[in-house]
Amino acid sequence: MNGQYKAFWMTSEGFIEILDQTKLPFVEDTVILRTADDAIAAIKDMLVRGAGVIGNIAALGVYLAAKEHKDLKYIVSKANDIRESRPTAVNLMWAVDIMLKALASSRDDLVEVAYATAIQLCDDDCDRSIKIANYGCDVFENIMKEKGKTSINVLTHCNAGWLGIVDDGSALAPIYEAKRRGIDVHVYVDETRPRNQGANLTSWELEKSGIEHTIIPDNTGGYLMQQGFVDVCIVGADRVSANGDVANKIGTYLKALAAHDNNIPFYVAIPEGTLDFEIQNGVKDIPIETRCGNEIKYIKGLNKEGKVEEILIMPKHANVINYGFDITEVA
Ligand code: MRU
Repeated sequence: MNGQYKAFWMTSEGFIEILDQTKLPFVEDTVILRTADDAIAAIKDMLVRGAGVIGNIAALGVYLAAKEHKDLKYIVSKANDIRESRPTAVNLMWAVDIMLKALASSRDDLVEVAYATAIQLCDDDCDRSIKIANYGCDVFENIMKEKGKTSINVLTHCNAGWLGIVDDGSALAPIYEAKRRGIDVHVYVDETRPRNQGANLTSWELEKSGIEHTIIPDNTGGYLMQQGFVDVCIVGADRVSANGDVANKIGTYLKALAAHDNNIPFYVAIPEGTLDFEIQNGVKDIPIETRCGNEIKYIKGLNKEGKVEEILIMPKHANVINYGFDITEVA
């Protein structure tokens, strides 16, 4: 891939240029990350997000640390800061561990090793994404065959497309593959409050690819499933524990329950870096991120003048709680 991915790419000076996901779908803007601290801020403030891409930027952030100071002690201390930047997506810790292992065991130039290791990790994620695309699309075709249908309605939550996993996504990868195979595919996109990754990001990605989709409020999926409008649900994940418990964007669990109640297949599409064999029981032990309550209190959109604006949508001092993820157990 030569360090060029859809959600981020390497500049000729060896820095990382990212699509600023906080501005989508209203403004397509990029930001250049020059230091490990830039990478940490981009992950924390969600300019980049989605388990896979967080891991990629974490790996490249370790490379930026090596570029700042060719000193293993410095690199390790920055790597530890990167590891702390978000708690739930284990791809972040997985990527940092791969980087530190490669750096500790090599006698070559630290910057070169860090760069080669990070780019290899990103390229491997691209290969995994293609495998998910093919496997997942075969599953879609089987569902269509079983139902005797020539089209398929898929429901997804949050964003697990190429903004979150290079370079085809995880949950959206089979949908992109369906389009490539000429399958008549339609996607129900959960808006995914409070940050609206579905409404803002998934819809933006699908629109760019000319894939038919309908954005639905988060509470609508159950009714659609009950009425037979959904053939399959597919989501990504931020961490899957050894017993198969799935941490994904808050609201995933309720969709899984509705799917279970209506006998609708519910798939979780993940690359290798999302597996955490160290945690046996996900419900008990996967750390769940709690984010700032203002993400719930304020909503961002275009005002009548076409300018991006944030407005308060509840009493200013209302109590809120903002868990980023929930856990779904395998039935
Ligand atoms: O808080 P986010 O936007 O980083 O959460 C992302 C998700 O929950 C995705 O569904 C997950 O990472 C799947 S793969 C991109």
